[in-house]
Amino acid sequence: MSERTTLIKNAKIVNEGRIFNGDVLIKGEFIVQIEDSISAKSSDVVVVDAEGKLLMPGVIDDQVHFREPGLTHKADIASESKAAIAGGITSFIEMPNTNPQTTTIEKMEEKFDIASKTAFANYSFMFGGTNDNLDEILKVDPRSVAGLKLFLGSSTGNMLVDDPQVLEKIFKSTNMVISVHCEDETTIKQNLQEHIEKYGDDIPINKHPIIRSEEACYLSSSKAIELAKKTGARLHVFHLSTGKETHLFSNKKPLKDKKITAEVCIHHLWFSDEDYDKKGTLIKWNPAVKTKTDRKQLLEALLDDRIDVIATDHAPHTLKEKQNNYTQAPSGGPLVQHALPALLEMYHQGKISIEKVVEKMCHNPAILFQIEKRGYIKEGYYADLVLVDLNNPWTVKKENILYKCEWSPFEGTTFKSRITHTFLNGSLVFNNFKFARTSAAKRLTFNR
Ligand code: DOR
Repeated sequence: MSERTTLIKNAKIVNEGRIFNGDVLIKGEFIVQIEDSISAKSSDVVVVDAEGKLLMPGVIDDQVHFREPGLTHKADIASESKAAIAGGITSFIEMPNTNPQTTTIEKMEEKFDIASKTAFANYSFMFGGTNDNLDEILKVDPRSVAGLKLFLGSSTGNMLVDDPQVLEKIFKSTNMVISVHCEDETTIKQNLQEHIEKYGDDIPINKHPIIRSEEACYLSSSKAIELAKKTGARLHVFHLSTGKETHLFSNKKPLKDKKITAEVCIHHLWFSDEDYDKKGTLIKWNPAVKTKTDRKQLLEALLDDRIDVIATDHAPHTLKEKQNNYTQAPSGGPLVQHALPALLEMYHQGKISIEKVVEKMCHNPAILFQIEKRGYIKEGYYADLVLVDLNNPWTVKKENILYKCEWSPFEGTTFKSRITHTFLNGSLVFNNFKFARTSAAKRLTFNR
């Protein structure tokens, strides 16, 4: 049987800082030709007319929580990766705070096994570090997983690593990318106690960024960076939420040569503390959404390359769980279906260029994690591609939400841009809100 061949015609191709008109030929899983004009050589070639649309590399999301195993009443790998595909995310890296936690090789392999059967998008996982699993960390082959995740502030799943000696040993002994959640536990505990004394059980949600404060974030990020400098570790700081932390990062080197990198998430670029009154606990995240000034400074740092990647930290909880009072409502919210439309909305608002969106959501995660043959529209690369109509408005509503938890912090928001097609490893897996029946997902591999 001959290989499946697809020709995407008349697209506005966005790649490596340029937007240009052209055609892309896909054979089997790979992009084989990119030219001004390519003609279909046989009637077997499937032609997709992309007139007026953007063609981008598929988004690579380096931080998601898909809740499987153990928390599948909130989400699972199948449901959330399907939503990701509809949102133009073709590869995801999933976090270890599942139940059981992904802190042994055996548990990690179980997750790979589930994903190989059910994922709709390409997948990899982070191995979880704890106060007592250094032996297991040292057994991990760095080419088999995306990296190591450490919670230096506690969040969903009780995975806090708070023993300074253990931390230093981990930093000294692994050459994996160490991704960290930074919030200083002592500061948070003290702030929370003060608020409980003042408000009892009824702490107003807008106190969240005062409890999980700028100081808590800065203290923890700066300590992690200091330790990385001392030990030579490769550190990636997840979800910056404050302007103050952005000054800890540099844009002096190209990403491939950086030892210390940073991520920002959609919610910290979109929401501010002014939204708590309206959205309540639906926008309760750790780290907290902070002030408008923080949001502005995060965007500045993203644009001047002190921040390297944009991710979602997609972290669904049920609506019932979120409707608890401040102390009981879990932190986190679902985002993978809406992240790219939100960033493209910021393009429409004149805040970021399309080329920069592609750099931070597609190219840079591939560079940072040394992902093999993905993240670009290049001959010889996997055909993970997304077609976007920039002028086809739609409103986020219950009936078009694909997350298992059935809610979104964006409900009621109208986005001008719509993802119309998603190609995964050469297969058209999403076409105008219809999914292909067969999965084309693959495990991510790394050039390490
Ligand atoms: O808000 C958050 N939710 N932050 C995290 O770090 C974890 C996540 C979750 O898993 O719920």
